[in-house]
Formats: sequence, C-alpha cells, structure tokens
Amino acid sequence: MTRYIDVTPDTPRERMNVIKLYGPDAFAGMRVAGQISARILDDVAGLVVPGVTTTALDDFIRTSIEAAGATAINIGYNGYAHASCISVNHVVCHGIPGDKMLHEGDILNIDITSVVDGWHGDTSRMYLVGTVPIKARKLVDVTYECLMLGIEQAKPGNHLGDIGHAIQRHAEKHRYSVVRDFVGHGVGLVYHDQPDVYHYGRAGQGPELKPGMIFTIEPMINIGKPGVKILDDDWTAVTRDRSLSAQFEHSIGITETGCEIFTTSPGGLHRPPYAAAS
Ligand code: MF3
Ligand code: CO
Ligand code: CO
Repeated sequence: MTRYIDVTPDTPRERMNVIKLYGPDAFAGMRVAGQISARILDDVAGLVVPGVTTTALDDFIRTSIEAAGATAINIGYNGYAHASCISVNHVVCHGIPGDKMLHEGDILNIDITSVVDGWHGDTSRMYLVGTVPIKARKLVDVTYECLMLGIEQAKPGNHLGDIGHAIQRHAEKHRYSVVRDFVGHGVGLVYHDQPDVYHYGRAGQGPELKPGMIFTIEPMINIGKPGVKILDDDWTAVTRDRSLSAQFEHSIGITETGCEIFTTSPGGLHRPPYAAAS
C-alpha cells in the first residue's frame, strides 16, 4: 500500500503521494540546514526575558537566518508573514509574532525553518520566561521526553505507529493529552511532504521505516483536553479549554541502524532551563 521512491535529481520538488528515500547528499544537506536552525534556537535563548516582544524575537531570527546565508522559508509560506512561529502558553502552534510582551512565568515554543540549497531544517523548542510554575515546567519536561521517546523508535523495521505510540503512552501516563489536529511530516527538498507523522497510534501500525526517510517529529501536548481551535487570524491554534500546551520538534533521517537528528543543539541547549536567562 505505501509506496516508496528513491529520490533522484529528476524527482519533482513537490508533495507526492509516496514516501521519498533520500541518499547521503540529502543527509549532508539536511545537516547543514538543520544545524543553522538549531544554532539560532540556541542564540535566541538569551533574548527570552520578561518584557521582550515576540516581534523582537522574530526580527532576531529572520536576521540570523539571512546572515547565515539561508532562507527564512516561513515568510510567504501559504501567506504567513514571519520567520518564526512563537506560541505562548495556551497557543498550541502557529502563534504569530506581535507586539505583546512576554511575562515572567510564560512558556513558549519557537519554531523556525532555515532552507539551504533547498534543504529544510525544521525545528522548535520550548523556552521559559523567568521563573515558571512547576506545573508548566513539568509539561515542558514531559513534552521533551515524548519527542525523544518517539525518536528512539525511529529505526529501520519499526513503523510510524511505533513513534506515535511511544509519544502517546508517555503523555497519557502523565494525564496529558496529544493534539490530533497537527502532525509531523516528511521534510527535505519539500517543506511538508508525505508521510504524515502522527503523535499517537498503535505499535506496529502505519508505514514501515526505511533508511533514507526524512521527516519531523513534533508532538504538541496539552495539560487539558486535546481539542484546538483556530483564531480569526487563520493561523493561531489554541487549546479549546485554554490549558497550557507545549511542543518540541526535530528533523531526523532514518539510517541503517537508527536515525540521525539533523537539528540537535550545537550548544547543548536541548531543553530549558537554558542557564542564566532562566
Ligand atoms: N514549522 C512549522 C512545522 O513544524 C510550520 C510553520 S508554517 C508557517 O511544520 F507558515 F506557519 F510558518
Ligand atoms: Co514541522
Ligand atoms: Co516547525
């Protein structure tokens, strides 16, 4: 049922109804783009303090992506106008940078994608503003664990359902819920490609993982119910019950023995607290 194709220079750079298998050049390209995005997520950590606006963070991100010789692909993507998505507190994803200031105790996700030579490095992390209540910090910690438990399942012979299952199991063990309305995705020369990567599911179900697959894992976990709604700006997704939501995202590639994470933090800032600023 699932079809796979080996990507060649002739493969159309568009979303296709097949799973693309990429070669070593793709992994090299993803490493470069992924490391630029990850380094910028490191650099922005020091700016996340009470009183800063999310627009100021987005300006820094756009400037940094361009200074690295990369493209801030979110700008103009389906009409989106900013380099980053910045999702604060009960915003699940696709928060639009604006003039609102961050406040002590806020938690936020910053999601960025840098493109280099066509390769998309897509990654996001959570940040804490000053001292954050324990309930929110725990959500952030468990969400990071969910991402990494999903990544542990990313190896040849396993199925996409093994990833979703590991994430869902851990989230629900902590009585959190997994957002169903957004998925991880194939990535590479196309930003949002096949396959859809569900963050819930059953072990052994879904497409088999094969070396050369490149995709994101980006679980969104809510303290309350999983339901989301989209605000009138047509982008901002919030929890219906206004409970806190958290997300982390890596772009990864399946290897012969497991996977490579393209978007690991060069500074070791995998999850907060990121030292001094927090
Ligand atoms: N980076 C997001 C993702 O993880 C997509 C953002 S699209 C935008 O897939 F247009 F909102 F920027
Ligand atoms: Co993504
Ligand atoms: Co992203």
